[in-house]
Amino acid sequence: MARRPLVVGNWKMNCTRATAQQLLADLLAGLPTDAKAQVGVCPAYVFIPELGAMLAGKTIALGAQNVADQDQGAFTGEISAPMLKEFGCAYAIVGHSERRLVYGETNALVAARYAKAIEHGITPIFCVGETLEEREQDKTFAVIDEQLQAVLDLCGVASLSQAVIAYEPVWAIGTGRTATTEQAQEVHAYIRAQIAKLDAEVAEGLQILYGGSVKADNAAALFGMPDVDGGLVGGASLDAKSFLAICLAA
Ligand code: G3P
Repeated sequence: MARRPLVVGNWKMNCTRATAQQLLADLLAGLPTDAKAQVGVCPAYVFIPELGAMLAGKTIALGAQNVADQDQGAFTGEISAPMLKEFGCAYAIVGHSERRLVYGETNALVAARYAKAIEHGITPIFCVGETLEEREQDKTFAVIDEQLQAVLDLCGVASLSQAVIAYEPVWAIGTGRTATTEQAQEVHAYIRAQIAKLDAEVAEGLQILYGGSVKADNAAALFGMPDVDGGLVGGASLDAKSFLAICLAA
């Protein structure tokens, strides 16, 4: 089964209202309608309504940077999947390492967020990845196993047919230190093999993105690896020219 490449820009806590609109306008103007890759952007929540309106009928998909583990109620600061759906979000990132490490989100909470996205027809972009210390202690696969298991326990392997996984080694995020193509492929292949033990068809169809200092000059090599199906791009997604070059490399 041929997997369509997917490239998603994670804008993180960047942009003003004006620069967010300009960035999206530049992407819409520059992305060929017949681009091979599906392209998405995940702006900060406050920009979602306006950018969603700009994207109506366009090929670029809209996503959020997180999603609540509840539908509604007394959960100050959270945004639910039904709310995101109402504003046209097709994707929601869950389990980004900045959420895990800076805000203390556990595997269980990430799985609950993932479950809500699935329940409401939003594709979770489920992030996994090890820290430098964990890699140096040869714990990469063990860490990824635990992160995956929490989602498998709560939602089952079939849910992954409606999800995307992003492998983001923490040591490569925003550091300019990209994983080598071999390092990325090794972990992507491992993730796919783990899923294949449970359901070969789901594993074959699963888009596994790489994230961590993806740039215009390394994207083609990373995306050329057999189990790398595109990228989750941070810093380089804030520059239209760079992001478009990355999209076209997929
Ligand atoms: O989610 C994308 C990400 O964390 C990678 O960020 O800036 O290294 O591309 P960056």
